[in-house]
Amino acid sequence: MVNYEVTVHTGNLAGAGTVNNVFIKLVGEEGESKQKWLMSVKGVSAVLIGMAPCFNVSCPSSIGKLVLIELNKHRLPLMPEDSWFPAKIVVKSPEGDTYTFPIYRWITGSKVQRFREGRALTVLDDTHHLGRYSRQQELQKRGEDYCWDVYSEGLPHCIKADNPTSLPCEVQFSFTKTTEFFYTATTGLTELKLKGLSCSKKNWNNMDDIKQAFCRHTSISDYVQEHWQEDAFFGYQYLNGVNPALIRRCKTLPSNFPIKDGMVFLSGQGSLSDEMEKGNIFLCDYKLLDGVKENTINGKKQSLTAPLLLLHKTPDDQLKPIAIQLKQVPGEDNPIFVPSDSEYDWLTAKVFVNGADFSHHQLNTHLLRTHLLAEVFAVSLLRNIPMVHPLHKLLVPHTRYTLQINFLARQFLISKTGIFTLYSASGGEGMLTVLKRALSSLTYTSLCIPDDIAERGLESVPNFHYRDDGLKLWDIIYKFVDGVLSHYYKNDAAVEQDTEVQNWISDIFEHGFLSQACTGIPQRFTAVCDLVKFVTMVMFTGSGQHSAVNSGQYDYGGWMPNAPISLQRPPPTKKGTTDQSTLLQTLPDVSTTVQGVSTLWLLSKRSSDFVTLGQYPEEHFSEEVPSKLIKNFQGELEVLTAIIKNRNQALEVPYTYMDPEQVENSVAI
Ligand code: FE2
Repeated sequence: MVNYEVTVHTGNLAGAGTVNNVFIKLVGEEGESKQKWLMSVKGVSAVLIGMAPCFNVSCPSSIGKLVLIELNKHRLPLMPEDSWFPAKIVVKSPEGDTYTFPIYRWITGSKVQRFREGRALTVLDDTHHLGRYSRQQELQKRGEDYCWDVYSEGLPHCIKADNPTSLPCEVQFSFTKTTEFFYTATTGLTELKLKGLSCSKKNWNNMDDIKQAFCRHTSISDYVQEHWQEDAFFGYQYLNGVNPALIRRCKTLPSNFPIKDGMVFLSGQGSLSDEMEKGNIFLCDYKLLDGVKENTINGKKQSLTAPLLLLHKTPDDQLKPIAIQLKQVPGEDNPIFVPSDSEYDWLTAKVFVNGADFSHHQLNTHLLRTHLLAEVFAVSLLRNIPMVHPLHKLLVPHTRYTLQINFLARQFLISKTGIFTLYSASGGEGMLTVLKRALSSLTYTSLCIPDDIAERGLESVPNFHYRDDGLKLWDIIYKFVDGVLSHYYKNDAAVEQDTEVQNWISDIFEHGFLSQACTGIPQRFTAVCDLVKFVTMVMFTGSGQHSAVNSGQYDYGGWMPNAPISLQRPPPTKKGTTDQSTLLQTLPDVSTTVQGVSTLWLLSKRSSDFVTLGQYPEEHFSEEVPSKLIKNFQGELEVLTAIIKNRNQALEVPYTYMDPEQVENSVAI
């Protein structure tokens, strides 16, 4: 007889232990053990949270190199069904070898489940017939558990689920996350309800009254409230606010934005054409919103415009707005506002741009380009790539909570009774139009920050912290991904012949980008470097990019006039027709304001079980090379944190959203 020493590590999270019976079978290349009942001297409660009891599994002779284990859970008569969350199982063979089987998932029901040994294997490297068989079985089950659904034609497809609890256990929120999420959701609004604000359909009486809805403060939200009217700070936000994705260098004015030299005063004394030639002029064009159906809120038709905004980089390196046209079609009823107009004409024009920016940011930059795409990457991964594959091990920590947060966004934000549908100028039908247009014009280039910055001509803009931190972060992620994938793919043919990875990208192309070749999204991979770049983009989108466009939502939108969720009056058609009273009638009413602001608070709140970028509490990789690469990755992220912290010390407004210490591994909020 020979003995295999089996150590069972149960996860350290609420409800992870089980009182059910657990059985294990070891499967090796030369045979298998009998099913062993894992029962310690402590009785049926052996498999408890954080514990690692040890068992012996005896076999008449060696079963050879271990390929997989089978776990099987049964409830005792009269005992309840009780799910179990094993972290990993470690087996010492009689030959003295140690095999680690990473699990990190909930085991429910009584079906036999197979788990592979920790060494990552692509389908080509998985030569044993049992290994190949278990891969097929796993993918077949995953295909049943993770099905595509169409939320609305023209949008990326999503996970099919009736409610959060119908999602597979392994992708659901933890107990901690669920509790906190709903606590924050209810407390934010309750506070405002107590003040009697959430039901008031009245307009704000004066700007000071808006402070009543501004009952939570961050150092940046306070700064915004003080400086939101200043041109330099208005311009700054196009670089380092929550929507850094729109601004681009302007070499020629769009034909529908007829500004002539002399219409705008430039502090550098040069003419507009000279400054354009020098690369000092920038454009934000909200054409995505043109003609989009405006929402009706509290019985009142709202206003949503598609402005054009021109900005100038001044000799002292500020970015200042110099011209605003509030609608796309030029004409007498569509004046071009400039800073020398009356105080309220200019401020009103900027508020309309802020309103357009709210919708553009939330729908395109945030929802579509991070949340919905991250869901596509995750569902495709879970359907097509088995746990033993290096790509699964690399990316699965970067999918944490994404499916459930998106389900909740569909349920509470954009459903018929969702906050965005009820209270945003672009809610309802307008939202679908914007999302469809945005997807049909989305490019692969724009998802890869080095290409995106170059394509928008923003390489040399000063004080562009989003770019500076984002490029550094991209490079660190790229190096890590390259290290891991190059270890498993020794040549391009290995990528080309990996059917699982080809199915992954093919599913993404079809279900995420609706088979639009013009997006430039790869349809298959033919080289290791192509795969590395795409996986870098996936990891960057779910971590740094989402943080950049998500974490500052309350900072920049807590003071409502800086990011109004909706606007009530149409844009002025003549100069000289605005004053404080028309501005107050333009801003959203009281209830709309508080709904918007409390949602931004919820969406910016960090959860206590946040996992920081590069931290892998679940050890899916057990080999030396990837483990070392993870350590190097963590070290490089720490250095970037130190660089960013040091830079921020000298800044009036610190930029922290892409500090790796503040970035979560996945789209989880
Ligand atoms: Fe988000």
